Amino acid sequence: MTQSRTEENKRRAAQAALAEVRQGAILGVGTGSTVNCFIDALIQHPGLVRHAVSSSEASTARLGAAGIEVVDLNQVSGLDLYIDGADEADPGRRLIKGGGGALTREKIVAAAARRFVCIVDESKLVPVLGRFPLPVEVIPMARNLVARELRSRGGRPVWRQGFVTDNGNQILDVHDLTISDPLRLEADLNQLVGVVTVGLFAARPADVLLIGSDRGVQKR
Ligand code: A5P
Repeated sequence: MTQSRTEENKRRAAQAALAEVRQGAILGVGTGSTVNCFIDALIQHPGLVRHAVSSSEASTARLGAAGIEVVDLNQVSGLDLYIDGADEADPGRRLIKGGGGALTREKIVAAAARRFVCIVDESKLVPVLGRFPLPVEVIPMARNLVARELRSRGGRPVWRQGFVTDNGNQILDVHDLTISDPLRLEADLNQLVGVVTVGLFAARPADVLLIGSDRGVQKR
């Protein structure tokens, strides 16, 4: 798959997501290149979204530039809908996220949303999660402590050096994990001291996947 075809498929999925947004919605907005396509598509529909809650400083800036008011999650009682991309999606709509490092706020916004629509190009589909290294956000002083725990579980954590999350933390990208039971692994890693967020979205998977491909957009 060439880069430009992948980009076009992202755009297709993002464009299709517009149909999921009801007039006057309070919308959660994720992070990444696919979401950027979605924000760009929103610009063509002024007034469709009442407010947005953003999952990153980057998306906040892009939404602001698009003239969409961004509010703090604490100012709203819940979100009608959350639109976000993913790094991998399995047939159960469970996801790996955090390639862009925004996993913590993405998980919070997803938890607050009544509906989570995930927009991906078809290259993100996998039968079993784990080909993409699993991002884990950690408190900086606990990085090596958590890395040892991850190694004892068969993973190969790699520190994303030079990267600081919007929350001031660090990321370990965990290679070589066999994620045969995503729900269980998410719960297991969540309880490690020093872990802020695991980029597995299994306890709160997407409700809908919109998959862009050369053949159009499939809803799953
Ligand atoms: C951001 O932290 C991620 O969870 C993104 O949602 C994910 O990396 C997808 O990004 P792209 O849309 O750029 O592929």
